[in-house]
Amino acid sequence: MEHSFWHARWTEGRIGFHEPAANPLLTTHFDQLNLSPGDTIFVPLCGKTIDIDWLLSKGLRVSGIEFHPGAVDEVFARLGLTAETTEIGPLTRSRAGDLTLFSGDVFELSAETLGPVNAIYDRAAIVALPPETRPLYAAHLSKITATAPQLLIGFDYDQTLSDGPPFSVPLSELTDHYAAQYRLDKLAEHPLDGPLGQRTQGLEQTWLLSPT
Ligand SMILES: C[S@@+](CC[C@H](N)C(=O)[O-])C[C@H]1O[C@@H](n2cnc3c(N)ncnc32)[C@H](O)[C@@H]1O
Repeated sequence: MEHSFWHARWTEGRIGFHEPAANPLLTTHFDQLNLSPGDTIFVPLCGKTIDIDWLLSKGLRVSGIEFHPGAVDEVFARLGLTAETTEIGPLTRSRAGDLTLFSGDVFELSAETLGPVNAIYDRAAIVALPPETRPLYAAHLSKITATAPQLLIGFDYDQTLSDGPPFSVPLSELTDHYAAQYRLDKLAEHPLDGPLGQRTQGLEQTWLLSPT
């Protein structure tokens, strides 16, 4: 998916992926990440998710990256925070308190710019990317986070019956991308609901990826 695809989705308000409250799969399974206040969690392809607010409320430092600068601005405005912004190569870093959001392409984010992270929360991130980009994303994510543990929410449905995004990324594919570095444990599985569930049948799956 090109930048222009997501830019159009944001400017036309076609953001059905954005949820009005913290994701219940995050709030249910978050403890599996064994994080402590002061730890840092990375939220790739974060949009303007309210999950950021929830993670901050747990005393975590939160870092995220998102193509659309308006989404980043909305998060700071919603939280009543005034961000200090810095240009770092092609990225803009916005920072206030425990929140750091980068505007730009995740593939431009280096480990050095991101800084150390204790965990990754991938909701609607790997499933937002087309098949040819996903192996590159998975390898890049492992590299810039030193293979931090992940809580990953994904989908398994028949891709021939409905097109993405969000794409189907079943266990077989997650295994291809991640099994060399992680043990994959399925924490939950539910029938699809929401906008995707109206289009097709399938499963929403919650995974814990633990470095091996
Ligand atoms: C399906 S949305 C999910 C947003 C968020 N995770 C949530 O749960 O609401 C995917 C987001 O990734 C962003 N995105 C897609 N490709 C990206 C990339 N290469 N770098 C940074 N952001 C990207 C899009 O602009 C979009 O906001």
